[in-house]
Amino acid sequence: PAPAPAAAAPAAAPAPAPTGKVYVVGTDAAYAPFESQNAAGEVEGFDVEVVKAIAGKGGFEVKFVNTPWEGIFKTLDTGERDMVVSAVTITDERKQTMDFSQPYFNAFQLIAVKADSKVAKFDDLKPLKVGVQNGTTGDEVVQKLLGKTSANIKRFESTPLALKELENGGVEAVVDDNGVVQHYIQNNPNAKFKSVTDAGFTPEQYGIAVKKGNAELLAKINGGLAAIKADGSYDAIHMKFFGTKP
Ligand code: ARG
Repeated sequence: PAPAPAAAAPAAAPAPAPTGKVYVVGTDAAYAPFESQNAAGEVEGFDVEVVKAIAGKGGFEVKFVNTPWEGIFKTLDTGERDMVVSAVTITDERKQTMDFSQPYFNAFQLIAVKADSKVAKFDDLKPLKVGVQNGTTGDEVVQKLLGKTSANIKRFESTPLALKELENGGVEAVVDDNGVVQHYIQNNPNAKFKSVTDAGFTPEQYGIAVKKGNAELLAKINGGLAAIKADGSYDAIHMKFFGTKP
């Protein structure tokens, strides 16, 4: 029989065919505009759209599962989640126990106070009761000012609970990521909050976390992220949620 003709090389790299693999993404969906639950119970937000766009480029699928922040990173080791995408700041400490994608968002801490508060800088929080979401970078920053074991740090399992407590007067300030504080102030005018920034807050970057050593998935994520940054789809999502290009 005649030898089979050599297969023609593809003209351009096609998008990889979907492998049918569905990666489970853990997210604490009480963190608008990054992740929240809509009336139908679906998880939506900036993070969701970024990851879906990445998955589209990488030829894989993702399924978001609302997961409490407390213990969220352990779900990578147990295999309950393949990724954690939850406005997670890349820190040296976290890098010891999980791997991160390239950064996909720049953030910083912001102080939320009542509109009539005299707080003008981070140092002014020293004598005050301050609310944070337990185990976040906001928690770490406030620990540095007030001391790790200070009774004035009030830790909440979610950011909305901390902000509710500020509204009720149980704490006098909340320290949390800028995007979330700004979003809350804009969408809850009756709370009468304002935000206070401080030049001493260090820049933070969000990354997608995977189980330590999962190089295969990390490469797919980083490839997809580079592709959506290159073709403008990342910018379009940023524009949709924040009204600006990154
Ligand atoms: N960026 C902060 C951190 O990584 C807060 C993230 C909280 N995310 C959430 N979905 N509650 O510690």
